[in-house]
Amino acid sequence: MIELSNFRSFFVANWKLNGNFQFIRQYLEILNREIFNKKCVVLCPPSIYLNIVKDLSKDSLIGAQDCSFYNEGAYTGEISANMLSDIGVNFCIVGHSERRKYFRESNDIINEKASKLIENNIVPIICIGETLDEKKNNRTEEILKVQVAASIPKSANNNNSIIAYEPVWAIGTGITPTLKEIEDSHKFIRNLDKKFLNFKMLYGGSVNIKNSKQILNLANVNGALIGGASLKIDEFIEIINNSS
Ligand code: PGA
Repeated sequence: MIELSNFRSFFVANWKLNGNFQFIRQYLEILNREIFNKKCVVLCPPSIYLNIVKDLSKDSLIGAQDCSFYNEGAYTGEISANMLSDIGVNFCIVGHSERRKYFRESNDIINEKASKLIENNIVPIICIGETLDEKKNNRTEEILKVQVAASIPKSANNNNSIIAYEPVWAIGTGITPTLKEIEDSHKFIRNLDKKFLNFKMLYGGSVNIKNSKQILNLANVNGALIGGASLKIDEFIEIINNSS
């Protein structure tokens, strides 16, 4: 498993259902010219491209966007944590709100996936976050508390897992919480249990070149999970280089 404490900050590019060979070649040709000291850059392409991204990338680590909660067997279309580990995957996003919404993933399923990943020496990046309705009804803390309790497995610790706070209403919308709201939510999550105090915690949701520096400067934010802006290689590099 990758040594998380070796890194000061984390920049996770969630490509979602985007990219092809040509995109990957151009992207890595530019990214490979950069040197990111102590900054952990993780590329999460669609699973079919994990191998090629790994082969072409110089320093970046690779992450999957999802995995099966089954180990092996008659589960058509699935990819196990063990298979991801076999090809050298270091991280895997689990519980992204798009998976919770479009693929009806429950906290229990996410918990099971994260636990399988840890068993296979892959760092799960466990996503949690409230919807707009929940925020409007002042239920953010209640929702975060339930998601943390139910989707983070017992085996998770600050050396083998990462938490990503992604308010659902901020994803892909260009709207972000205020800096205070981000800091408050991260602090709230950290204080839910002693064991979270030293967890690496990422913020995700409309991170871009204009807001990244301030967000990444927050005391309780250790990095960013970036969707749209990570598809533009120049912007992604600028976000990484602009952060302290
Ligand atoms: P966004 O996506 O940066 O495009 O808002 C973030 C994510 O979904 O992880």
